[in-house]
Amino acid sequence: MTLESAIPPHLQQERTQPSKLPQNYDPPFPAFSARFPKDVKDIVMVTIGAQHVDRKPSTDASALPHIIRFLSQGPEKYHPTYWEPASVTDNSGAYNEVIICYWHSAAQYQSWATHSGFEAWWQGLDPVAEAHGWFLEIFFPSVERFETLFSNDQATEGAAYMKTDISGPISEHVYWGSMRDRLPISQTDALPGTNEGAKSKHRTGAAAPLKKRTRVEGKKNLAVIRSGQDWSKTNPHERKLYLDTMHPVLITGMDFLRDQGNEVGCFSCRFMDVLDRESLQSGTEKTFGYAYFDDLASLEGWSKQHKTHLDIFGRFLQYAKELQGDVSLRLFHEVLVLEPQQQFFEYVGCHPKTGMLAGV
Ligand code: HEM
Repeated sequence: MTLESAIPPHLQQERTQPSKLPQNYDPPFPAFSARFPKDVKDIVMVTIGAQHVDRKPSTDASALPHIIRFLSQGPEKYHPTYWEPASVTDNSGAYNEVIICYWHSAAQYQSWATHSGFEAWWQGLDPVAEAHGWFLEIFFPSVERFETLFSNDQATEGAAYMKTDISGPISEHVYWGSMRDRLPISQTDALPGTNEGAKSKHRTGAAAPLKKRTRVEGKKNLAVIRSGQDWSKTNPHERKLYLDTMHPVLITGMDFLRDQGNEVGCFSCRFMDVLDRESLQSGTEKTFGYAYFDDLASLEGWSKQHKTHLDIFGRFLQYAKELQGDVSLRLFHEVLVLEPQQQFFEYVGCHPKTGMLAGV
């Protein structure tokens, strides 16, 4: 099989940081990376969320439609390229529902925020008057600080809706350190962070909402991962195997990061159900883990050394073996490593363990 680098030619440069790619490496199964147009210099990923401490998902129908209406307001050229609804009940028992949206550039996002009326609405929110919490988390990675990995060359997820192409099979995967090797910035930057994840609040139990607006400053080289699973294309045999054997170990890993993530430098982890775009209900057979780590080394450390990801990883290899390689489960992830000014976090009337508030 001919392999190519996950880093496209126009982003390759002489390394001052070593790669972990083994010599003459031949990965045991193929994986692919999204290829973005050369003129894409930065990407914008925005999570707009509503938090309900004391309401059931089924009784709450207005928050997401309210956000979705903004997405199609203002000139069409500024609308997001892709958006997806998702939800999670967190470890305080609060129901969080979000729209994750993607734009091609910071300028396009800013134009949308102004012309759609979203920015004015957001700034006008009164945490005391609102019936529930709202949160806004924005990432502006330059393309050098962003990487994607797909188990399938047909799949499109997240920022990959903005791709022009998908790579051929890539070299940099299934060895520890391959995520770093796929990030163009890692050719010349070791990407050290802050070690502040250890101080974040991961305890379980109810937490009362703070009736105020809180902005959280960006962290040096914050590492963000959105790691998705799609079992909607599996046949009944594989679906059962997934739900009986993979899904439970994945939940254990996500619960660990959510409840004790401070032990491994994780500020926040949400294991989210993707909702149907029309009905805004669950049942899509798609989930993703969405986690913020204090740096890439902490994320690498959890995935390589912690029992909970080793169990996920090991179970997957066994799963593929049991299916004799005929796997229809689709996996993808996108990883961002961000400079402080490439992050924006604001929480209006949310409880203190929400997202990056957990690190304050
Ligand atoms: C790497 C399996 C969920 C974090 C990997 C790899 C596999 C794997 C096979 C090696 C990938 C490659 O390079 O080709 C799985 C499966 C999952 C899952 C089957 C779910 C069913 C997650 C989640 C997270 C995560 C939810 C984080 C929130 C990572 C990281 C790496 C990795 C950071 C890269 C390690 C490195 O390259 O140094 N996982 N994983 N995984 N996984 Fe998972």
